[in-house]
Amino acid sequence: MSRHFLAIEGMSRQHIWSLIEIASGMIEMARGGSELARGKILSTVFYEPSTRTRLSFASAMNRLGGRVISFGDLSATSATKGEVLADAIRMLCSYSDIIAMRHPNEGAVKAMAMYSSVPIINAGDGGHEHPTQTMLDLLTIYMLKGSLDGIKVAAVGDLKHGRTVHSLAYALANFDATLTCVSPPGLSMPGYVKDKLPSGWLSEGAELSDVVGEVDVLYVTRIQRERFRDPEEYEQLKGTYVVDKELMSRARQELIVLHPLPRVDEITYEVDSDPRAKYFQQAFYGVPMRMAIMAVLLGLVESELPELAAGRNTELHCQNLRCITTVEKYLPNLVDERDNCYYCGQPMPVTRELFTGEKK
Ligand code: NCD
Repeated sequence: MSRHFLAIEGMSRQHIWSLIEIASGMIEMARGGSELARGKILSTVFYEPSTRTRLSFASAMNRLGGRVISFGDLSATSATKGEVLADAIRMLCSYSDIIAMRHPNEGAVKAMAMYSSVPIINAGDGGHEHPTQTMLDLLTIYMLKGSLDGIKVAAVGDLKHGRTVHSLAYALANFDATLTCVSPPGLSMPGYVKDKLPSGWLSEGAELSDVVGEVDVLYVTRIQRERFRDPEEYEQLKGTYVVDKELMSRARQELIVLHPLPRVDEITYEVDSDPRAKYFQQAFYGVPMRMAIMAVLLGLVESELPELAAGRNTELHCQNLRCITTVEKYLPNLVDERDNCYYCGQPMPVTRELFTGEKK
């Protein structure tokens, strides 16, 4: 049985700590290299643009002493000939020992775990989750603040489409931490994410100028232009929140500013020289954290990961237009243990039959 790394939802405090411990022990190796994964091959399969994530996976595998194969140009792959995703993944299993995959559809990587005989890692699936980003965010907070308990975090920006903040919320809810959400109208944390968090834990509706004086971590995100159906709406909302020198003058001295990057205009360049700006250091921590995750999945280092529960067959179809089931039609309709779509985690529609308890 292969072990995969698909989501933060379902990970416990113990699972998270254990990876942080392994990753913090790999920081030296992340600079100097090792032979731990000698002979292993990572495939990076990115169906969406990426700079940091793909390169930091590649750097991590190189630092582990392994090798990397990838496709850098989607238009040069058989996807353009109509090849289904499952066939592409099955093929990659015979070329590599581990796969890191990014895809614009939600639940795509979990779906492909059903076809992969080697460990597969979710490097971002649409607006759903980005679990390795969250693990490096947590490593950064731990390294800079010394703990995850007692930490107050504010997430700022596009919390609706931002997969990094969904994963971050699931993770922080395991700790004695708080999460305050600051988002433009219409871009707040989705209901299906909040439903999976302890009720009343998340706080919403705060002003950015107030939270900077109260929190330990300001987690800034960009408005996710590519996920808007209406470009007009993006134009209206971009630039709603800007972290600049003036805002930083009101922030706590102990504050750290994080951002998964890329930034567009939500943090001004003058903030980069503020000692509280830690986003480039954060990007470095992606290397030891991805080394740790791959070493565990390859069985080179011991750590527990959550069990992946099997889905249950259903007659229902997921109504999330971004769900992988809308494009890869051969996938069986499945629900998870909460009766949400097995792949994208969103609620399944309530049919008349289920609603009334009668058969048509
Ligand atoms: C993030 C992503 O891809 O979700 N970037 C990253 O992986 N470092 C954030 C973003 O694109 O805004």
